[in-house]
Amino acid sequence: MVIDILTLFPEMFAGPFDASIIKRARARGLLQINLVNIRDFSPNKHRTVDDTPYGGGAGMVMGPEPIFNAVDWLKSQRGEPDRIILLTPCGRLFTQEVARELSREKHLVLICGHYEGIDERVSEALATDEISIGDYVLTGGELPAMVLVDAVCRLIPGTLGESASAEEESFSDGLLEYPQYTRPREYRGLAVPEVLLSGHHEKIRLWRRRQALLRTLAARPELLAKASLTAEDKRILMEVMEEIKSLLS
Ligand code: ADE
Repeated sequence: MVIDILTLFPEMFAGPFDASIIKRARARGLLQINLVNIRDFSPNKHRTVDDTPYGGGAGMVMGPEPIFNAVDWLKSQRGEPDRIILLTPCGRLFTQEVARELSREKHLVLICGHYEGIDERVSEALATDEISIGDYVLTGGELPAMVLVDAVCRLIPGTLGESASAEEESFSDGLLEYPQYTRPREYRGLAVPEVLLSGHHEKIRLWRRRQALLRTLAARPELLAKASLTAEDKRILMEVMEEIKSLLS
């Protein structure tokens, strides 16, 4: 997969893209990340990229020309991208499902806004998608772009190696992940649950599933409604409800 990132601050990406799984995916040629400095495409000799808003108001707005110019240049180099994604708090919420959808593409262009905003014509006539990583306002689209690249990267076949696939983890079936433990068996008086030491695979599977269901119920009950629950999951949840009832009676 090729990801072109349009930004005014390419230096922000150095750390996160040069470590761990993303670094390895890049080294293996599974992921190619290109940082494009929007300022290089300014139409004027002062290399400005922003201006005061029409209609008045505080702050500066990123103009359309450097961004359209940068995308035109990319298209001339690599052809039409599959998606041109503007990172903005006004976009569709980024979820595991969106990450999965994007991981199937071959070529993404990400546009990171900055300052008070970005000229509306970028979203009207250039971007194919607008994505928000959550209901809060960041100073720019750079951190959201890093979040998106990280979540998408680990879904590209081959990036996680052959150890437990991305599918086994949180959200793959709409539930939070079960708790994990490793050595030592007891630490500061905290013991690893006995069942995990039992070697009884079926008991361990059932315990993990129950924990995933309990965690989701406690922390993110709205996810349970959307999750794909099996007959066994429903039985476990009914048992839990019975236990709660008897506690209250
Ligand atoms: N730019 C600023 N805040 C953002 C957010 N929450 N998601 C995506 N882009 C942003």
